Amino acid sequence: MDIEIRTISADEFGRWEAAGTRAFGAHATDEAIELARSFAEIDRTFAGFDGGIVGTTTTRTSAITIPGGWAKLGFVDGVTVLPTHRRRGIMTRMMGAQLCQMRERGEPLAALSASESLIYERFGFGIATWADSWKIPRVHAALEIAPDAGGRAEFVSDCEARAEWPNLHARVRGDRVGMVHYDSAYWGAALWDAEYQRRGASGFFHVAYRRGGRVAGLVSYRIRERTVLAVFLLGEDAEVEAELWRYCFGIDLMSEIHGFNQPTDDPLPWRLKDPRRLERSKSDHMWLRLVDVRAALEARRYAERGDISFRVHDRFCAWNDGVYMLEGGPFGAVCKPGGMNSVDIELGVSDLAAAYLGGVSFSTLARAGRVKELTTGALDVADRLFRTERQPWSMEL
Ligand SMILES: CC(C)(COP(=O)(O)OP(=O)(O)OC[C@H]1O[C@@H](n2cnc3c(N)ncnc32)[C@H](O)[C@@H]1OP(=O)(O)O)[C@@H](O)C(=O)NCCC(=O)NCCS
Repeated sequence: MDIEIRTISADEFGRWEAAGTRAFGAHATDEAIELARSFAEIDRTFAGFDGGIVGTTTTRTSAITIPGGWAKLGFVDGVTVLPTHRRRGIMTRMMGAQLCQMRERGEPLAALSASESLIYERFGFGIATWADSWKIPRVHAALEIAPDAGGRAEFVSDCEARAEWPNLHARVRGDRVGMVHYDSAYWGAALWDAEYQRRGASGFFHVAYRRGGRVAGLVSYRIRERTVLAVFLLGEDAEVEAELWRYCFGIDLMSEIHGFNQPTDDPLPWRLKDPRRLERSKSDHMWLRLVDVRAALEARRYAERGDISFRVHDRFCAWNDGVYMLEGGPFGAVCKPGGMNSVDIELGVSDLAAAYLGGVSFSTLARAGRVKELTTGALDVADRLFRTERQPWSMEL
């Protein structure tokens, strides 16, 4: 079977979206296709063709907060192959084309959130962030330490929410390593709130926390059978976020509150009177890939000054396979190719991606048997360099 892999043309977009939706086990509606078209990047949208479209994947041009600044990011989305065509290497070929395009565009990093955790390591992605889901019965949601952020909560319209979310997110995203920078078209789609996106829940309610004349925090939630589903919640600081949680915990007639994708080091559980009542389940969240290892290592800043050399294995993006000598510090980094006799740590590119944002230490990966220390003390040096103050996290739309 001769499958063609290429980017689509604009008039193929409807069929591309319909094929992707079918592979996820649903039927695309005209409304959903038009919504997806509103933020589609056609020249980054790939398909596998066997007569019609049998495989899909796309990249959203984005950026990500990394220690000391930000880097260009290709965010991979809509990866599917029709059940009639699976396990014949179509996704592998599309992913190869997509990563080559990112390299040509000078994007050192790629990211995605995975439907299944068995798929992406073979392509060099590693788990860079984790997230908690929360469930708490309302009767046990009392706070021991009440917040006082000096503002007030008020309902805002859909239209105001769509205007305010991108502003708030843009102000906050520099504070947390891992935050993906979304453009306003994507925000519009995330908050569109079509019936098919609700899965039996209400439409969005949007509550803003206003302080000093501006929106300092927002929560967009749905209600389903006496449960508050806090879909998006973000504040300028922890005090504002606690105000928004207190608001969610206080809604009369509700019996339970659910939070999705919370940072694993969120301080809110430490404010609760009865923290055991908060059910937390932790899951892998953002998978990261170093598309260009050298550029990625030079892009970030390091917690302290130090030198380390890595032997990086990369079977899928062979241009990365080699030795990297990193001189990093809080104000800059230089990374040069090295020789095999100068290696301190040997690892796969997916493990370097997992450690890149500071979400896991090299020592932990070594104890898991994934990373090899070739120079005594090198793990300790690498851990100290790559450490970040807070756990990396990204708000997912
Ligand atoms: C996941 C999906 C895109 C894979 O497409 P595909 O064309 O069958 O993948 P490939 O044939 O290129 O497979 C490449 C490798 O990944 C493995 N693989 C693919 N999908 C897998 C899965 N769901 N679980 C475990 N391994 C998987 C294959 O076994 C193969 O391994 P090998 O190289 O050791 O033989 C396809 O199964 C699909 O559309 N699934 C439903 C939608 C989905 O989950 N998409 C992912 C969104 S994040």
